[in-house]
Amino acid sequence: MLEIRHLYKIYGAREQEVFERLQRGEPRTEHADHVVAIEDVSFQVDAGSTYVIMGLSGSGKSTLVRCINRLHEPTSGAISLGGEDITQASRARLRSLRGQRVAMVFQGYGLLPNRSVLANVAFGLELKRVNEKERTQRALASLELVGRAGREKRYPAELSGGMQQRVGLARALAMDPEVLLLDEPFSGLDPLTRKQMQRELIELQSRIQKIIVFITHDLDEALTIGNRIGIMREGRLVQEGTPQEVFCKPSEPYVADFVRDVNPLLVLTAHDCMRPLGERDAVAPDGLACRVSADTRLADIVGLVASSNGGGVVVEHQLGKAIGAVLPDDILAAVASRGSAK
Ligand SMILES: Nc1ncnc2c1ncn2[C@@H]1O[C@H](COP(=O)(O)OP(=O)(O)OP(=O)(O)O)[C@@H](O)[C@H]1O
Ligand SMILES: [Mg+2]
Repeated sequence: MLEIRHLYKIYGAREQEVFERLQRGEPRTEHADHVVAIEDVSFQVDAGSTYVIMGLSGSGKSTLVRCINRLHEPTSGAISLGGEDITQASRARLRSLRGQRVAMVFQGYGLLPNRSVLANVAFGLELKRVNEKERTQRALASLELVGRAGREKRYPAELSGGMQQRVGLARALAMDPEVLLLDEPFSGLDPLTRKQMQRELIELQSRIQKIIVFITHDLDEALTIGNRIGIMREGRLVQEGTPQEVFCKPSEPYVADFVRDVNPLLVLTAHDCMRPLGERDAVAPDGLACRVSADTRLADIVGLVASSNGGGVVVEHQLGKAIGAVLPDDILAAVASRGSAK
């Protein structure tokens, strides 16, 4: 598990002094020659979970993610990975952490132009002095993971943006890290490729079960990819929760402004609009034509429900137990109220 507690990052010559003044309750505006980029941020991410940090430009997203691998030194706070406090790691320890436990993928791909795809993916392993046979094997396996097997002899300039991004991801995966830090990896891609990459990342994560911290300024992307989302404003984490919680109950007008234009069908799930079994107006599950699991997004069930002749859907968790039913009217009501009735 990755756990961040009371993290602060202040840019400027006297960061400790400014930190102490903040602790005494002085307002941030008193410190005009310093930037309080991260202020008292805490959250945790479990293995297999994708945590998306979302916020406007300048809200502190990149600073936060760069504090996690200490490309930037935090001013204060604790960052622990599997019980080890990264903020206390020595230089030598940090080098091995960065090489092996925490990998980062940047927006600009950062591929070396004069190296083949395979040599790019194997680059980190080469720095770690892994022998050639093993690094080729591991690089090929991670290219396979991102669906790029068979293109290992090409050069970066011959690849589209989406393909370069997959190679960048494969390079990070080749180190078999526990944590993947992805800073706006899909921002440079066209909208269709971007959607495709989002789907691939979800599918990849279901297989690799890493701790993923994903940065974006696109709320649709955050709601699609994130198991949990943290919304940042001016260095503070102003809301944290599942996509449905953020969408249905924005904590403040800044968040409400973000979610206003989001398509409810893409966020709300069968669980958000089902009627539990056993309620007075519940329908008998035996009479319903199709079954969906509780976490299925409405966009994926609306067609099924509409075509099942008013029968609706039995909603069940993966293990198969029926827990509720969804009728077309339930979907309509949830969309109309944007889930707020629940
Ligand atoms: N090296 C630095 N020195 C001083 N101030 C910095 C430094 N890096 C970032 N900042 C400031 O810290 C704040 C947060 O910046 P950061 O790059 O973390 O934001 P961001 O949310 O990633 O923005 P974007 O979406 O544009 O990438 C901004 O006010 C920025 O100007
Ligand atoms: Mg940034």
